[in-house]
Amino acid sequence: MSAVAEQTARSETDPTVPILELRHVSKRFVKRLDLAAKIANLVGATLRDEIVQAVDDVSLTVADGEVVGLVGESGCGKSTLGRVVAGVHPATTGTVHFRDREVTSLRGPEARDAALKIQMIFQDPMSSLNPRMRVKDIVGEAAVVHGLVDAKGVDDYVAQTLMRVGLDPVYMRRYPHQFSGGQRQRIGIARALAVQPDFLVCDESVAALDVSIQAQVLNLFMKLREELNLTYLFISHDLGVVEHLSDRVVIMYLGRVVETAPTEALFDAPNHPYTQALLAEIPRLDSRKRRFVPVKGEIPSPLDPPTGCHFHPRCPHATARCAAEQPVLREIAPGRWSACHLNDAG
Ligand SMILES: Nc1ncnc2c1ncn2[C@@H]1O[C@H](COP(=O)(O)OP(=O)(O)O)[C@@H](O)[C@H]1O
Ligand code: SF4
Ligand SMILES: [Mg+2]
Repeated sequence: MSAVAEQTARSETDPTVPILELRHVSKRFVKRLDLAAKIANLVGATLRDEIVQAVDDVSLTVADGEVVGLVGESGCGKSTLGRVVAGVHPATTGTVHFRDREVTSLRGPEARDAALKIQMIFQDPMSSLNPRMRVKDIVGEAAVVHGLVDAKGVDDYVAQTLMRVGLDPVYMRRYPHQFSGGQRQRIGIARALAVQPDFLVCDESVAALDVSIQAQVLNLFMKLREELNLTYLFISHDLGVVEHLSDRVVIMYLGRVVETAPTEALFDAPNHPYTQALLAEIPRLDSRKRRFVPVKGEIPSPLDPPTGCHFHPRCPHATARCAAEQPVLREIAPGRWSACHLNDAG
């Protein structure tokens, strides 16, 4: 049996153990003063290091085979959270658990396995694919390095992987620039699949593609989910993209999760005022496709977030309490969580 087929036939794991669990994960970036700023301080300026709380105390559980959509406006910390999940960034505080094992505590082959099991698919395949490498090497290299296939079998292995993502293997000796945007994204997906992951973090993975190509790539993700029993964290600033694809949606605002709910429940009856604002649609007569309008008001700077509920300067329901006290994320109905003081009334 080929390695790809083996992956397909992989036995089901214990369904009671979540595949991924984040416990109180925060990620802070510190931008140190450069030399010019230090000199300015010597002559009386009062410049300080800039601290961005990109992810602020996020706890999240993802079940095996689940597709979780992570949504929020630009700068709210989606990519940072995705990178912490994929092991690209260490969390500043909090822990990441993959199949019940804390990832950072693993060493040697176990650490390597865990790292391979979560792969990331990026927005711009052109900048994430090495332009001087042939597709064959882009897709096959990591699988050989990690001993998933030997050098003799790599051509077959790459061919099978390319077919899985809808690419003709006859092109495996070509370079990335010889493909269209959609095909390049498929190469990026093939590269991720070649190391036999269980979990894909897709970060705006269709945002750079034409709408018709977007639909094809989204369909591919769903086909792969079925065939390979994959679990997804699907990051997008566009609610329309996650609506038809996610089992559950997580809404972030300035580093914090403000609401999470099964997709249908969230779209039918959004609880959090920020989700309600995100969901405000432009009615369209010409098609049944939803279109969402941007939320009114400026996104505050993550360098200096508002006190209390971060959303209060833009919230139509804000009270004095909202500016003073941070609302906790709590369960408001089975499987539905929201962080808003309005849920305390009554
Ligand atoms: N490597 C980094 N160094 C410093 N700041 C960063 C870094 N990555 C992200 N940030 C900051 O963290 C915040 C969240 O960014 P990001 O996770 O990219 O948001 P999103 O993906 O939702 O647009 C932003 O203010 C961004 O400027
Ligand atoms: S806590 Fe207050 S400001 Fe925040 S979303 Fe709820 S009502 Fe609006
Ligand atoms: Mg991003």
